[in-house]
Amino acid sequence: LKRRLPDLRLVDIDNAGDAIDIALIWKVPPGLERFGNLRAILSLGAGVDQLDLDTLPKNVPLARLKDDSLTACMIDYCRLAVLRYHRDFHLYERLSREGGPWRYELPKRTSERCVGILGLGELGGAVAGDLVSAGFQVAGWSRSRKEVAGVRSCIGPEGLEEIAAMSEILINLLPLTPQTENILNRQFFSKMRVGSYLINVGRGRHLAEDDLLWALDEGRLAGATLDVFRTEPLPAGHPFWGDRRILVTPHIAAAGNPETAADYVAENIRRALRGERLLNQVDVSRGY
Ligand SMILES: NC(=O)c1ccc[n+]([C@@H]2O[C@H](COP(=O)([O-])OP(=O)(O)OC[C@H]3O[C@@H](n4cnc5c(N)ncnc54)[C@H](OP(=O)(O)O)[C@@H]3O)[C@@H](O)[C@H]2O)c1
Repeated sequence: LKRRLPDLRLVDIDNAGDAIDIALIWKVPPGLERFGNLRAILSLGAGVDQLDLDTLPKNVPLARLKDDSLTACMIDYCRLAVLRYHRDFHLYERLSREGGPWRYELPKRTSERCVGILGLGELGGAVAGDLVSAGFQVAGWSRSRKEVAGVRSCIGPEGLEEIAAMSEILINLLPLTPQTENILNRQFFSKMRVGSYLINVGRGRHLAEDDLLWALDEGRLAGATLDVFRTEPLPAGHPFWGDRRILVTPHIAAAGNPETAADYVAENIRRALRGERLLNQVDVSRGY
């Protein structure tokens, strides 16, 4: 930030007196409301579910982090996780470890496989575009209807049922809000195609964990790739560890890069100082 904005004075909030223009935060620090001249709050997370939005000073715009490297990283993760199921690598990994037998699964074409994505925002939209380029049938669920080339846009409760019924591989990229908490639950899984796969890269609290185990036991789901958990790190002895149907990754789907993230933060600082709308400004009333 200092390289991009040489005149910027960066201070620790505890030593800031009562005059700062812009707050860069991860969680809401106590006493933020004492800064009467605050022009923007810039969250250094890609989501804002770690913030108690009710405790933020009113009428100060809030933006979350946008970072091209993070988006690229998420695209890689989702492409890899989708292709792993699409080309049966999860099966060959297991057979390799177990000493066979030799099993030949005729590969499907990508155009014969439907991938559903819950959330078609910054990340979900980019992942959808990538999977369309790879030839998959892609459907996405969002609050507002989308026009994305090659993506079937689904909305509302019927849209959610539709996407559950269509998808052989389902990616969750929703933000965590009161409306989306526990959305991946028994009711949802019972609408999914028998033998389908879940990839959860949203937040751990989107998933009702016992319901996932139920869906796997019932054969409704054939496997899950999970990057986020209700408790992180995933505690030792948790039933997800060692379950051969589940791949656990340590909340690594997408990480920010300081260089590219700094470009966005610097641009938002400039915008805030000019009194302009921020990039990736959060609608606090919606919670994302
Ligand atoms: N695992 C990781 O490493 C990692 C890294 C970064 C982010 N994430 C997660 O990814 C999430 C998504 O990030 P993003 O940048 O893509 O968020 P975003 O740009 O805010 O997009 C959110 C999408 O979800 C849709 N949505 C929100 N609430 C909904 C509801 N109640 N019903 C239907 N659709 C709803 C939105 O619909 P509209 O478009 O109609 O508003 C939008 O398409 C983050 O919140 C974070 O939890 C995970």
